[in-house]
Amino acid sequence: MAGKITLTMIKPGAFRKGNTGPILSMINEAGFRISAMKLTRLSTRQAEKFYAIHRSKPFYESLVDFMSSGPIVAAILEKENAVDDYRKLIGETNPENAEEGTIRKLYAESLQMNAVHGSDSDENALIESDFFFAKNERTDCM
Ligand code: CMP
Repeated sequence: MAGKITLTMIKPGAFRKGNTGPILSMINEAGFRISAMKLTRLSTRQAEKFYAIHRSKPFYESLVDFMSSGPIVAAILEKENAVDDYRKLIGETNPENAEEGTIRKLYAESLQMNAVHGSDSDENALIESDFFFAKNERTDCM
C-alpha cells in the first residue's frame, strides 16, 4: 500500500528568490496537508548525510555546497499516495524536461538548483522525515 507522507525541501535558490510562499500555495492547492515544517540551514555535514546516496556521483560535491549555501524550508506532506502525487506536482528532476505547470517548470533555475526536493520512495520518505523532525514536531506522529 502506498504511504501517506513525503518529505520536501524548498532549496536555497528558490528560498532566496522569495518563492517559498507560491510553492507552499501550490502544495496546499494540490491537496497536501503540511504535518511538519521548519526553516533551517543545512551544515555541510548534514547536506553530505542527506545526499549520501549520491556520494559517488560527479555532482555530489557541488550539490552539497549548494544545499548548504543558505536557508531551506523542510516539510512533511501528508496525502494518500503522497510520494507519487508529489513527484507529479514537482515534475522531472531536470526542469528542462518538467511538464508545464509543475513546481520545477515554474521555479527551477537548473538541474542542480531545481527549486524543491521530493522523496523518491515511501521508505526514503520515512528516513528523510526522521532526518529533519522529532516525533513531537510532526502531527502525523501525534
Ligand atoms: P533532488 O530531488 O534533491 O535529488 C538529488 C539532487 O541531485 C537532484 O534533486 C538534483 O538537484 C541533483 N542532481 C541530480 N542529477 C544531477 C546532475 N546530473 N547534475 C547536477 N545535479 C544533479
